[in-house]
Amino acid sequence: MSKTSLTLKEVRKSAKEKLKNVCMVYKDCDGGPTRFCQGQHYGRPLGFGGIGSGASFHNNWLALRKIKLKMKLISENFNPDTSFQLFEKKLTMPVMAASVSGVNSFGGENVISEADFCTAVVHGCKAAGTLGWRGDTYTYNAENQSYGLNAIETADGWGIKIAKPRSQPEIMKFFEKAERIGAIAVGVDTDGCGSYMMTKHNKPVFRKTPEDIKELVASTTLPVIIKGIMDKRDAVDAIEAGASAVVVSNHGGRVLDHTPGTADVLPSIAEALSGKDAFIFVDGGVRTGYDVLKMLALGANGVLVGRDIVRAAVGAGIEGVQLQMNFLKQTLEKAMKMTGCTTLKDINVNIFDNH
Ligand SMILES: Cc1cc2nc3c(=O)[nH]c(=O)nc-3n(C[C@H](O)[C@H](O)[C@H](O)COP(=O)(O)O)c2cc1C
Repeated sequence: MSKTSLTLKEVRKSAKEKLKNVCMVYKDCDGGPTRFCQGQHYGRPLGFGGIGSGASFHNNWLALRKIKLKMKLISENFNPDTSFQLFEKKLTMPVMAASVSGVNSFGGENVISEADFCTAVVHGCKAAGTLGWRGDTYTYNAENQSYGLNAIETADGWGIKIAKPRSQPEIMKFFEKAERIGAIAVGVDTDGCGSYMMTKHNKPVFRKTPEDIKELVASTTLPVIIKGIMDKRDAVDAIEAGASAVVVSNHGGRVLDHTPGTADVLPSIAEALSGKDAFIFVDGGVRTGYDVLKMLALGANGVLVGRDIVRAAVGAGIEGVQLQMNFLKQTLEKAMKMTGCTTLKDINVNIFDNH
């Protein structure tokens, strides 16, 4: 882990100044009803908030917060090993940056350009030994505005591209480019069919069938990830259609009001996929290594972090993202040490207080 000169506190202070129109950089980013980003502001851009009442965003946070960890301390001393193997790559931890895009479109001019944002996420994650996933929004196209893939290319392919559920040919163009530049994997956020921004800017997005997923899988040599899974049947359909991984996600609560928290639905999805050769990722409300530990215990293989990575990138670019990732690793190590987990394989529901 390389050293940086800034502190995370300074990064967040800088983010607070730059994001003053969209995010207050609260200590607890919980999507609560009184938060600045939240509320029933129909017809206005989402900013950093959740859709509608904000219940889905808030439920992500609540679902994690209600789980309590059990301290377990009597054994030989050990230093936890957080290392994680993903598609033949070794990462320092099972924590990656979520596919987030379009920060410049609602943050005002002085926030960050989309190109700089993607560079910060991809290179900041790489510096911390982990992976930046990159998203897709109405300002993107595969020909000359594929900011995420451009950043991944400058990192020698070290990144994952998630395309919106556009038409099949449009998705395939992103996949082809990803393959050409040596990206690690590609995917589609199927829940992006509820995207406010795409609809508003006349960029059609669609529900996807198992046959569509099969066609996408057949179109590329890269592993395909299906993001936006909140139902066990959807999870099984995606994997049986050839996907290599699913992401249990409600898009940070941004696409449908009144969904449960992702930590609430994760165990049933993990059970439905048990025995299948598939990675299970999850995101939503993850802010610390303690949250990561909870998600891993509930059945995830890896965890994505959205809003905190945006704040880190806006606050201090590559260095900010690296610091945020280092913080997640340090807190995951602490969480593992205090609950008696030497490696990721030791993490299961027995670390919860009610077991
Ligand atoms: C501002 C913003 C933009 C997002 N853009 C995308 C995107 O382009 N593609 C995508 O798959 N998910 C997108 N997401 C969802 C994230 O990938 C992720 O699911 C979510 O942020 C996780 O919740 P968290 O922010 O509480 O960590 C976006 C989320 C936010 C907050």
